[in-house]
Formats: sequence, C-alpha cells, structure tokens
Amino acid sequence: MRLVITKSDEESARLAAGCIAEVVNEKRDSLLGFATGSTPEPVYAQLVAMCARGEVDFSGVRTVNLDEYVGLNAEDPHSYMYYMRKNLFDKAGIDLSRVTIPRGDADPEEEVRRLNAFSDKNNIDIQLLGVGVNGHIGFNEPCDCFYNKYHIVTLTEKTKKSNSRMFSRMEDVPERAITMGVGDIMRAKRIVFLANGIEKLDAMKAILEPRDVTPRIQGTILKFHQDCKIIIDKVLAELINPAPEVEVSYT
Ligand code: GLP
Repeated sequence: MRLVITKSDEESARLAAGCIAEVVNEKRDSLLGFATGSTPEPVYAQLVAMCARGEVDFSGVRTVNLDEYVGLNAEDPHSYMYYMRKNLFDKAGIDLSRVTIPRGDADPEEEVRRLNAFSDKNNIDIQLLGVGVNGHIGFNEPCDCFYNKYHIVTLTEKTKKSNSRMFSRMEDVPERAITMGVGDIMRAKRIVFLANGIEKLDAMKAILEPRDVTPRIQGTILKFHQDCKIIIDKVLAELINPAPEVEVSYT
C-alpha cells in the first residue's frame, strides 16, 4: 500500500482525478470502477473540469459501480445511478450504454446474477474507493467472511445512521443494498482510495496501522492489494501511525 498525505481534501481529489485520467489517457477503452458518497464528489468535479479542458476524453471508457440501494430506481435522487449521472456521466459525456450499476428496482437475485456475469468477463483498470465509518468498502458490511462476488447485503444500523444524512428521514434509508464483493474489488488492477474526516479515523487506523486483516473491518483487506494508493489529508494523517510496509509520501 502507498499512502499519500496531502495538504487538503481538494488536493486529494485532484490527485485521485489525475490517477484516473492517467489510466484513461493510456487506455481509451478502460473499465473504470466508481464509488459514491460525499468523498468522491470533488474527484468527479475535477474529472468534469479536466474533460471540459480537453485533458481527458471519456468517450471510449466503460464504467462499473460498486453498489446501489435495493428498492430505489434510477430516477430516485437518493439512488447511486442518479448521483453518478449528476456528478459525472451527464457532464463528462459518458453514455449510459457503457455504464454498469446495480439496478435497485430490479429483482435483486437476478440483478446479482447479471452483475456477476459482467464481472466474470471484465477486469477493472482502476477502482475509486471510499470507506464507511465501520470500515466498509462498497457496501461490504462487517461480517464473518469476505464475499467474493456481487451479493445482497442488509445494511447495519451504523451505516444507515451515517447515510441518513442524504435522506430526509432515517426511515427512508433502504434496509438492503447490492454490492460488489471484496474479491472483485481486489481484482481491480489499481485502486485509488480516499478518506476524509475524523469519523473515518478508526477505519483508517485499522487499514494503515500494523493490525490484522479482518472481515469485521472489510477495508483491511486492502493491505493485500498490489497497487493500492491511499490518499488522505494531513489532519487525518497526524493521528495515524502507518505500518512499516506502507510507503508514505507527501505532496
Ligand atoms: C456509502 C458507500 C461507500 C462509501 C461510503 C462513505 O456507504 N456505499 O462506497 O465509501 O458511503 O461515504 P462518504 O464518502 O459520504 O463518507
């Protein structure tokens, strides 16, 4: 794992966007793995700006997203499809025919089969990742194992509470989600992982410090990824003592 410590969240977003653009500029038809949540929003804003300046061209890429809430359709403003269209796809000219996102309003079991047929045939060139307060990646919640493939999860109270800030009421937060498995995340050729804010401290300590890899904190599996760049700002970094094998650099 490589850790890059930046001066600000804005710089972190610029750096992450640069990593994605580099991959696209090397390989026009890259498969890009995307994430949602507040953390990646400024990354998408940077990519849109780079696209407008002609520094990157997304017309040849395909994309795949980590997860979606079960029960929400693509027009629902809380759905991750809506989020992706608003923040990136519609602004960067990414045609929806090239996009794979779990369909929240489809039969969940059939949807899992469709997504796994896709992931069996395709390898992600770069995966953007964030982390939940309980260390989840995608919606891989703390449990007794690591899931390999897309599957249906019941969200924990902690995740529902944390994500309720995006909904009007806690009761509106869906109970279940479809998520890419940790196995597929780990098969991405490169990972760029962003974390901001003190509420992510426990998760980031578990991921970066010399601690066990455990499905109770799913993000700890990233210790085993061969090309994972973690980008955090100095406020968070000051509170973390990275393991000796983590290569640390500063911007
Ligand atoms: C959701 C998503 C995760 C994301 C997490 C953190 O739970 N499923 O992929 O990493 O939120 O989001 P935020 O960046 O808003 O803290």
